[in-house]
Amino acid sequence: MNARVDINTEFVDPDDLDNNRSSNPQFGEVLAAGLQRRGLLRGGVAGALGAMFAPLALTACSGGDDDIVMSPVAPPPAAPAPTILGFSAVAKTSADRSTVPPGYSARTLIACGDPLAAAVPAFKNDGTDTNYDQRSGDCHDGIQYFGLSATGTRDTASSSRALLAMNHEYINATFLHASGPAALPRPASQTDIEVACHGVSVVEVAKGSNGQFGYVQASPFNRRITGTTEIQLSGPARGNPLFITKFSPDGTKTRGTMNNCGNGTTPWGTLLTTEENWSGYYFRAAGDQALRTAKANASFARYGRSVTATAGAASRYGWETSGADDKYARWNTSVVGTSTDGSDDYRNEWFTQGFMLEIDPYNATSVVKKRTALGRFAHENGAFGLPQVGKPLAVYMGCDSQNEYVYKYVSTALWSAADATASNRIATGDKYLDDGKLYAAKFNEDGTGQWIELNIANAAIIGAAFGFSSQAEMYVHTRIAADAVGATKMDRPEWVDVHPTTGEIYVTMTNNSSRRVVPTGTQTKVDAANPRAYADVRSGTATQSGNVNGHIVRFKEAAPEATTFNWDVYLFGAEAAADPTLINLSGLTNDQDFSSPDGLVFTKSSGLCWIQTDDGAYTDVTNCMLVAAVPGVVGDGAAMTLNYGGGNTVTTRMGKKPTATTLKRFYVGPYDCEVTGLCETPDGKTIFVNIQHPGEGTSAANIADATKYTSQWPSNEGYGAGRRPRSATVVITKDDGGMVGFG
Ligand code: FEO
Ligand code: CA
Ligand code: CA
Repeated sequence: MNARVDINTEFVDPDDLDNNRSSNPQFGEVLAAGLQRRGLLRGGVAGALGAMFAPLALTACSGGDDDIVMSPVAPPPAAPAPTILGFSAVAKTSADRSTVPPGYSARTLIACGDPLAAAVPAFKNDGTDTNYDQRSGDCHDGIQYFGLSATGTRDTASSSRALLAMNHEYINATFLHASGPAALPRPASQTDIEVACHGVSVVEVAKGSNGQFGYVQASPFNRRITGTTEIQLSGPARGNPLFITKFSPDGTKTRGTMNNCGNGTTPWGTLLTTEENWSGYYFRAAGDQALRTAKANASFARYGRSVTATAGAASRYGWETSGADDKYARWNTSVVGTSTDGSDDYRNEWFTQGFMLEIDPYNATSVVKKRTALGRFAHENGAFGLPQVGKPLAVYMGCDSQNEYVYKYVSTALWSAADATASNRIATGDKYLDDGKLYAAKFNEDGTGQWIELNIANAAIIGAAFGFSSQAEMYVHTRIAADAVGATKMDRPEWVDVHPTTGEIYVTMTNNSSRRVVPTGTQTKVDAANPRAYADVRSGTATQSGNVNGHIVRFKEAAPEATTFNWDVYLFGAEAAADPTLINLSGLTNDQDFSSPDGLVFTKSSGLCWIQTDDGAYTDVTNCMLVAAVPGVVGDGAAMTLNYGGGNTVTTRMGKKPTATTLKRFYVGPYDCEVTGLCETPDGKTIFVNIQHPGEGTSAANIADATKYTSQWPSNEGYGAGRRPRSATVVITKDDGGMVGFG
């Protein structure tokens, strides 16, 4: 029997994978010292924001009869004008609760298992609940707000009624079953629950008479898309022989979407959601390599499913062991049939995962499409550049595994403003997301960069040993094409978002345990855009090495279709007390310091940048958090050379260091959680923040003893039945009704 992950003891970051064994060159071994600061494009939103929110000048009343002399009367004290980031910083804490600044409130809105259909009973939270395809899924992740009018139509201005569309990245299996997850072979009843807990929820929310948001259990808009939902394969790879399965002999459809991590919205009002670390959900048998082509084996290896004659690849949850039924057999991506094309088994099922999906949240019966033109990799999220009429649309994306790449898709169709309100939103998606160019990013030492098109006409791609035979095929083996063109290996690209005013693009690099100053084996050398490698000692004895705390890269380009850009590093995550010359390069203080940036979202109402953490390095000091920022612009800092000794130096491009008024911790989540996904009402007075997997460190052996759960949130704040911890959406408001993020 092949080894597999023991789901009872799983407590590793399932996102932290390294499948990139390409020989892509790193930046120069030793960079010339004394690089001059670049004359990059300048501009800025900080000043504009300051003006926007400056106190209104009080206008004195005058007039009346000059002969009447009145005693001077002191005017009533003016309420202090709201100040951006004017709240008090939240201190680092290990408290098992939501912690917000004074003057703010946080409430749980909807948690794993809450019913989304009228007849579904309330969640008991004791491991006996069923019907998860009609309940909120688990492990809340990316979340988006779609305004709804009083009559139930799309209303981008509505701040009182909306549809929230959110991802359920994976499962905290310990708490889904009465006595925890059973061993192999997995009971079908447990597998059915676990598959249904994945995917996406669309749920209506509305303000009640108390002015607070609640979710609407019986709303006709509510929808679950799970690991079994039928999904169309769209775009250039639709119908490709690589997609032929018993379920879809013509390779045009598949079932389910897995490991949905970050997400985004389109300019026409749909959800763009992602499949991140989907590869590990599939079992592949020992010996399968002998039954596959060399290309298939190379692709399996590049995406983490290689096998040998004696060692198979275990699936994450063992769903393929739950019986002969097709819905379980599909999780085995091995050759088991006798056909030559895969139409009698699920050898190719694995190739149908790993894409971006488009979902119309306003129509609960609308078709869901995987947009293959945006490539296949570990998609974290997707962010559109600012739409410009008559120009192509750009979508920026990160591939979250160690040493993977940043990508851009550029539509062939030019943006028409009328499409922003088109009634057939999926057809609009067909127009912009099924035909375009895909690029991978190369970050140069001098602060410039190139987008290299992933087109098999490129000699580097067509000439690669892999043997690409068609452009359609490139959209399935995208990582291999990016390897071929020498894209830059990054420190796990996570969320991307675009500044709503400047249009500059921000990408979090969460951390990278394989980055080194002097690498050996499969480790990767520091470079200008990924310049840090160091050791961090947690309390106790555990030591982590590499880029332990992560950083945020940003770049600026002249147009959506540009093939060059300028970049710098906006922020470096670090502990405040860490060495300022090699680790705490951004000079973070105790009110700001963070580790492992993952979620990154700009709120349009304020231009604030919200940074969320998914950390395992600083969690001996603090739970994961949400930090609010007023960023500057690319090039507002200077070059900085890190001297690691022994002749090893690397020069990076630093953004201007933050100050106490441009970066501040806003929220700390409950114990053992990740803070991920954020959206706002258009008036900026409410934000919705997702809390993922509180208490994930709890051993399944302790399932019967709630006192041994590492978290009991949100029940310990009065939400819901039982004491098992639950992923949930939190609503944060300012007590005076003002905009969130202001003091
Ligand atoms: Fe699912 Fe890359 O975080
Ligand atoms: Ca993430
Ligand atoms: Ca992550």
